[in-house]
Amino acid sequence: MIKVLCVGQDKGGVGKSLATRALAEAVPSAPIIEVDSTRRLLELEHRTSFFPMRAERSEIERTGGKAARAEFDDVINAIASATEPTIVDIGANTSKSLLSILADLAPDLAEGGIELGLLVIVTNEPGAIAEAPPLLTTAKAFDASFVLENRLRGPIDPATLKAIVGSRPVSVLPEFNLEDQAQQILQGAGLIAAELVDAKKLTELHGIALGARIRRDLTALRLGAMQAVRKPAEWLVSGA
Ligand SMILES: Nc1ncnc2c1ncn2[C@@H]1O[C@H](COP(=O)(O)OP(=O)(O)O)[C@@H](O)[C@H]1O
Ligand SMILES: [Mg+2]
Repeated sequence: MIKVLCVGQDKGGVGKSLATRALAEAVPSAPIIEVDSTRRLLELEHRTSFFPMRAERSEIERTGGKAARAEFDDVINAIASATEPTIVDIGANTSKSLLSILADLAPDLAEGGIELGLLVIVTNEPGAIAEAPPLLTTAKAFDASFVLENRLRGPIDPATLKAIVGSRPVSVLPEFNLEDQAQQILQGAGLIAAELVDAKKLTELHGIALGARIRRDLTALRLGAMQAVRKPAEWLVSGA
């Protein structure tokens, strides 16, 4: 069986693409499917198939059930034809629709040798907290599901988190307060920036103190993100 791990949450800005980047580093052989209104995983372009989505949810809903469902046909075909463990980064406002179609198709995909997994990202925001349970319910048709609590907006109340997560494995990504320059490097090069960054050049540009902080920021975020996706990454390559 070939495993396909979807990274989902309808709320934007919660760390789906960051988790995808960490998974991409943890499983360097995995192709990536990016479903979004614009390409974001630029540094991973060489291993990413991009499927554009209309940015506006209302526009998708307005076109009605048939057209809205057909919107995902290409993505689903790409998932069905995976030949090695694959990561799917689902952009904002798209998870619920795409995952429910995948859940319906799970038996057909299984027949074709595809096993589905879901990683739901949840942050301490009402929208993200409200979206998580329906996604996890949908994913009951999947082979595995995982939850990542991204503390980007502070920790989630433990009882609330427990109600969302149930008995699933949950991992925590702490909030990182990055130097602006580290943030900029990250925007351009993704988590791989931690490896690519030229220490000498950073010191030349920013002095030794800030240069070292930038390097430390990038390394810490990369390590934190990779630790936070460890369980789903292990699932992705298990039995491979
Ligand atoms: N725990 C964190 N600490 C600091 N920055 C974070 C954290 N999680 C995510 N970010 C940053 O927040 C922004 C939004 O994350 P992103 O992965 O693009 O969200 P999504 O794909 O869900 O829209 C990115 O700039 C990302 O690097
Ligand atoms: Mg994203």
